[in-house]
Amino acid sequence: MKLEALSLADVDALVALDAATNIHPWTAPLWRDTLNQQHTVGFRDAGGQLGGAAVFSRVLDEAELLMIAIAPAQQGKGLGRALLDGVLRQLAAEGVREMFLEVRASNQRAQALYQSAGANEIGQRRNYYPCAGGREDAHLYAFYLSAAA
Ligand SMILES: CC(C)(COP(=O)(O)OP(=O)(O)OC[C@H]1O[C@@H](n2cnc3c(N)ncnc32)[C@H](O)[C@@H]1OP(=O)(O)O)[C@@H](O)C(=O)NCCC(=O)NCCS
Repeated sequence: MKLEALSLADVDALVALDAATNIHPWTAPLWRDTLNQQHTVGFRDAGGQLGGAAVFSRVLDEAELLMIAIAPAQQGKGLGRALLDGVLRQLAAEGVREMFLEVRASNQRAQALYQSAGANEIGQRRNYYPCAGGREDAHLYAFYLSAAA
């Protein structure tokens, strides 16, 4: 998979991807701020359409995964794993040692992805996310990276 840094030219595609994969998607202005302030990478399908994207923040040798999504029609084909592995490889090569993330307790699929990619569950935040029935917990994961990753 060839990852590329995304730019303001990708705002519409990111808004559409987010709306199709996230129950609380970001607005276009928030995506513009994100593109200006965070690291956003993605890949395109053969037709040039955005197939998936990931957003992470970075401070010194720590990173946080803020968003990862694969277009619905492309899910379940190993692309999420490839995108996550690509992000981890890029961060490791840049000297990052840890990447943290939070995920909804109900998001078993994403947790299976993180666990299969080597993440360690390091804690939980009670009632962290709003959801249809009220609130749900966040599960916190950490990847410990080495320069050889
Ligand atoms: C979570 C997401 C990024 C995974 O991407 P994907 O391309 O569908 O996943 P992959 O095909 O690469 O599979 C990766 C792992 O996910 C798990 N997985 C995949 N499909 C699954 C399913 N239907 N049910 C449960 N686990 C599943 C498997 O553990 C798989 O591990 P393996 O490679 O060892 O088999 C994608 O489903 C998505 O965009 N979901 C909506 C957005 C989201 O929830 N993002 C995460 C927010 S924290």
